[in-house]
Amino acid sequence: MRIAVPAETQGAETRVAVTPETVRKFIGLGAEVAVEKGAGLASGITDADYEAAGASIAASAGEALNGAAIVLKVRRPSEAEAASLPAGALVIGIMDPYGHEAAVEGLARANVAAFAMEFMPRITRAQVMDVLSSQANLAGYRAVVDGAAEYGRALPMMMTAAGTVPAARIFIMGVGVAGLQAIATARRLGAIVTATDVRPATKEQVESLGAKFLAVEDDEFKQAQTAGGYAKEMSKEYQAKQAELTASHIAKQDIVVTTALIPGRPAPKLITAAMVESMKPGSVIVDLAVERGGNCELAMPGEVVTTPNGVKIVGHLNVPGRLAATSSSLYAKNLFAFVETLIDKAEKKLAVNWDDELVKATALTRDGAVIHPNFAPKA
Ligand code: NAI
Repeated sequence: MRIAVPAETQGAETRVAVTPETVRKFIGLGAEVAVEKGAGLASGITDADYEAAGASIAASAGEALNGAAIVLKVRRPSEAEAASLPAGALVIGIMDPYGHEAAVEGLARANVAAFAMEFMPRITRAQVMDVLSSQANLAGYRAVVDGAAEYGRALPMMMTAAGTVPAARIFIMGVGVAGLQAIATARRLGAIVTATDVRPATKEQVESLGAKFLAVEDDEFKQAQTAGGYAKEMSKEYQAKQAELTASHIAKQDIVVTTALIPGRPAPKLITAAMVESMKPGSVIVDLAVERGGNCELAMPGEVVTTPNGVKIVGHLNVPGRLAATSSSLYAKNLFAFVETLIDKAEKKLAVNWDDELVKATALTRDGAVIHPNFAPKA
């Protein structure tokens, strides 16, 4: 049972799908692991580290993939990569299939079983495999660190002989996994933190982290959480009330971090150009939703924009990849935990239970066809 880890081919991807720790665990399950030369470097892992853990180093992706039963990736294989995957292999990664249906069909044509880790159900058994949480948590932390780095003042209150520095005001919009970690990080750095969300459950979470909650708490707010725990898209009326409430607040903030997302929809627009204009020169907005259209009207994917009134709007892409060593280590553990369920430990061989709910939720392709209900051709 050979596990292949080709280097990521998307230029900006710094993460890697295995660490020396998970290599050792896979070997413990009876697998052999082949890692492409240099695959871990951007995450601070050398070929020698992998070899010391028992992996073999392949000179090329093709050499790593040769005879592999399982291929571990961070990102979906490119079209060129898909063509070189060994037929019948399990290919596991963050597949980002929405809007990339042709690429999913390409994986089916390559005759591999592709699994999308981001579709893992958020149930207790699968918490250890939840890549959305492991990566969003780090993105929330990094967003505050990036905001602090762009901000030209200190965050904590300091009373010094030369004078007093006031504490910075940080506002977190959207309090899911990323937002909660952003609040905790901003608090640790000594800022005065407020936060908003449309799901009522977040109020207590915000307050328990020592931040102040701010939201339009009307009847729609009370119904805003879906059975799955996500936010609904709010009505135009609610959005107008929310904008009215937050506008004067945003004008007084030093740093605003936005993380608001709605599953399957573009990110809600929470900060208008007029709100940006109302902010003080030197203030910073960090938009973590920029890859999904952005929460701030003026955010640009992959750029740090400075507006004419001196507000910086940070739109970094792949924020978890900005702390690649930590995000790879957690991602690799998420992958290991899932792969472990696909292996018969006594026989030391692959034994996928296609009726398992984790497999059903994540499997995109199998036996040459797209099988996931959200993407399979309708009968
Ligand atoms: P997400 O990434 O989909 O959205 C981020 C946040 O934006 C959410 O809190 C959402 O309510 C908020 N939002 C959406 N529209 C907004 C608007 N117009 N204004 C302000 N905020 C807005 O959410 P994430 O981080 O994936 O978490 C979703 C849920 O899943 C939460 O309830 C979380 O506690 C739960 N969860 C459960 C887990 C488990 O049980 N295993 C693991 C991780 C998360």
